[in-house]
Amino acid sequence: MRRKLFGVIFAVCIGWFQAEALTAGFIKSPLSQMKIIEDSAELDCEVIGNPIPEVQWWFIEGEEPDETLTQLFDGAREDHVHINATYINHATSTLTLTNLTLNDTGIYECRASNDPDRNDLRNPPKVKWIRSQANVIVFEHAAITTKPEVVNDQNQTSAILSCNLTNPSSPIKGFYWTLNGKPIDKAGSSDGGPYIEYEIKKVDYHSSGIYACVFKTEPEVNATIEVKALPHVGAYKHSENANEKDKAVLTCISHGYPLPTDWRWYMLHDNEDKMPIVNGTDDKYEIKNTPNKTMLYVKDLDMNKDMGFYECQGTNEIGSASDTIQLRVRSQLAALWPFLGIVAEVIILITIIFIYEKRRKPDEINDDDDSGSAPLKSNSAINHKDKNVRQRNSN
Ligand SMILES: *[C@@H]1O[C@H](CO)[C@@H](O)[C@H](O)[C@H]1NC(C)=O
Ligand SMILES: *[C@@H]1O[C@H](CO)[C@@H](O)[C@H](O)[C@H]1NC(C)=O
Ligand SMILES: *[C@@H]1O[C@H](CO)[C@@H](O)[C@H](O)[C@H]1NC(C)=O
Ligand SMILES: *[C@@H]1O[C@H](CO)[C@@H](O)[C@H](O)[C@H]1NC(C)=O
Ligand SMILES: *[C@@H]1O[C@H](CO)[C@@H](O)[C@H](O)[C@H]1NC(C)=O
Ligand SMILES: *[C@@H]1O[C@H](CO)[C@@H](O)[C@H](O)[C@H]1NC(C)=O
Ligand SMILES: *[C@@H]1O[C@H](CO)[C@@H](O)[C@H](O)[C@H]1NC(C)=O
Ligand SMILES: *[C@@H]1O[C@H](CO)[C@@H](O)[C@H](O)[C@H]1NC(C)=O
Repeated sequence: MRRKLFGVIFAVCIGWFQAEALTAGFIKSPLSQMKIIEDSAELDCEVIGNPIPEVQWWFIEGEEPDETLTQLFDGAREDHVHINATYINHATSTLTLTNLTLNDTGIYECRASNDPDRNDLRNPPKVKWIRSQANVIVFEHAAITTKPEVVNDQNQTSAILSCNLTNPSSPIKGFYWTLNGKPIDKAGSSDGGPYIEYEIKKVDYHSSGIYACVFKTEPEVNATIEVKALPHVGAYKHSENANEKDKAVLTCISHGYPLPTDWRWYMLHDNEDKMPIVNGTDDKYEIKNTPNKTMLYVKDLDMNKDMGFYECQGTNEIGSASDTIQLRVRSQLAALWPFLGIVAEVIILITIIFIYEKRRKPDEINDDDDSGSAPLKSNSAINHKDKNVRQRNSN
């Protein structure tokens, strides 16, 4: 019932839409924005009308009496301007300005019209183009002096990062700090001046990363400070087991900033000698590295040669860290042992049964002719008892 009603209303609307020419009207207008040089800006414009209106973008530079108007097209300003328009049901158009420069500051106008004569220069259209404007203001990079510029001293245990904003584009409404792009808990405030600090109590792989101080101005501005520390290197598993002739994979993972730029593997001998492992040696070793992970493949395992301790070592510009993995190699038979055990058990059982059966046959024969054998004695004894009992009963 409800669906039917909806269908009818819908049909009426469509019919009305198709029948009635509708002058263009904005349903979404571009919004003004403030941006920093090299940022990008996006302006949206959506228009309804029947027929579907055409949408144009214009750039207005300068003040009222001597302002200049330029129409923007996709790829304008050396490909810094992009326009993506769709004309389905209604008109949508998005103007994207990339790699903003100070020259991009100005008024951006979205124009729309569906008058058939809209582009005819001789016949002025009956219905004028409708317009909607937005300001884009591009600012110079904020001047933020950071101290230190980078923390990269292996001996440093704590650090104080500071930022000083010297050319705010608007009042500073607060600040926050981020680590690797994520805001740091409780490291922000909704007030504060142009000078802010953040203390790192312990400089290690955990606290290392790219820090940024963000000032809540219009637009927000930030500066980054790199905090570098020794990487953390850890074995994925400290003990690996594999079978003879098989392949073993030893894995180490790294955390911290920066991640290792160099990975090494060593085999450790009892006398603490480290034997470097070279990728591809004798088709035995293969090393696969990514910044945060190294994998050592040991192929065609040998119980005598390959069993032991291996060390993975990751190095970044601050220094090296390592971890060890124990590789145990089982004999190929080892895997078979449980199975062999069962087979042996079965064989022993069968043998016992077989022997027992073999020995029982002569016994049975003895049963008849030799009443002197041990089991029979007890039998006869029982028989005697039985007889006695029976005799007693009969008495
Ligand atoms: C253009 O916009 C449509 C819909 O808004 C989107 O699906 C498409 O990916 C955009 N194309 C480009 C090149 O941005
Ligand atoms: C942005 O423009 C500047 C010059 O205005 C140029 O040096 C820089 O390489 C451009 N960046 C990108 C990402 O296109
Ligand atoms: C900005 O415009 C001026 C003149 O209009 C020009 O000389 C200058 O090179 C432009 N700057 C950039 C970054 O496009
Ligand atoms: C770190 O401390 C050690 C000894 O305490 C010293 O030898 C080394 O030079 C220091 N390194 C740096 C980068 O200061
Ligand atoms: C921040 O920079 C300004 C301008 O260079 C300077 O006067 C001020 O002393 C600095 N503040 C701090 C805390 O360093
Ligand atoms: C810092 O500013 C740049 C350029 O404006 C921006 O791309 C980046 O996301 C900002 N970083 C943070 C943490 O806000
Ligand atoms: C080791 O050698 C293999 C095969 O040649 C290669 O794919 C791999 O990238 C090498 N690993 C390193 C760390 O060089
Ligand atoms: C290693 O880095 C890759 C991308 O660089 C990431 O997808 C993966 O989660 C990281 N692994 C670990 C253990 O951090």
